[in-house]
Amino acid sequence: MDINITILAENSAAPGGIGEWGFSALVEADAKRVLFDTGAGTAALMNAATLKVDLAGIDAIVLSHGHYDHTGGLYEVLNHTGPVTVYAHPDVWTPKYGSLDGSPPRFIGIAVQREALEARGATFSLSAKPQRISDHIVTTGEVPMVTEYETIEDYLKVRQGEALEHDPLADDLSLVIEAEYGLVVLLGCAHRGVVNNLLQAKQVTGREDIYAAIGGTHLVHAGRERLESTGGALLELGVRYLGAAHCTGFKAAAYLSEVFGERFFPANAGMKLTLPFQE
Ligand SMILES: [Fe+2]
Ligand SMILES: [Fe+2]
Repeated sequence: MDINITILAENSAAPGGIGEWGFSALVEADAKRVLFDTGAGTAALMNAATLKVDLAGIDAIVLSHGHYDHTGGLYEVLNHTGPVTVYAHPDVWTPKYGSLDGSPPRFIGIAVQREALEARGATFSLSAKPQRISDHIVTTGEVPMVTEYETIEDYLKVRQGEALEHDPLADDLSLVIEAEYGLVVLLGCAHRGVVNNLLQAKQVTGREDIYAAIGGTHLVHAGRERLESTGGALLELGVRYLGAAHCTGFKAAAYLSEVFGERFFPANAGMKLTLPFQE
């Protein structure tokens, strides 16, 4: 199975593209066109226009979680797609906040009301369980937190009544394509841990082989110990290619690039990937 992945929004951009904190990728596989995340704002649509990627009539949108940098482009994207099913976990709608370095909490959830998105043609399919989009494309559903070293930082909050509580990010999920050469996993932020996300991808598909993991790994605040545990686990999982992006962070990307050598690449906005890669 050939898989085409176009990175439409990412922190950094290939020449001619626009960088924006967030992530969005168009996946073309299994006779489906699936938009995974929508970036924070206008980058996904602007890069799509530059790359001559037409989003009209796409088969599905998948939201990795409710943070603004993955959902902020949705309202405008819907103007281009036409009516479309949006797959996500029900907790994408919890009111999410961030409070970094003691700064006043900032709303970082979905900024547009659900009704307004529905009025533009979104039909939400919300489930904590894996959701199947085609015979070979499925979401991980809610990701169990099983590794000891993958935790969610305290600065990520959710409003419960008047109080801000720690956000368990139950909505964090990945998109999995089951190819004959292995699983291809698209990660949003992997707040529940990149290793936990990949373990869940294996669990859901019953497959052992991970061909590629592409997207955010949320190692931007990780210390050396977590980096080493993660790098070791990714090798042990047999991840063949790692396309780290977004909230991986520079230090972690540099570290993982060392660990994976030629099998590492930064997945920047404007990149068009065709899998399997030529070796
Ligand atoms: Fe996030
Ligand atoms: Fe993010």
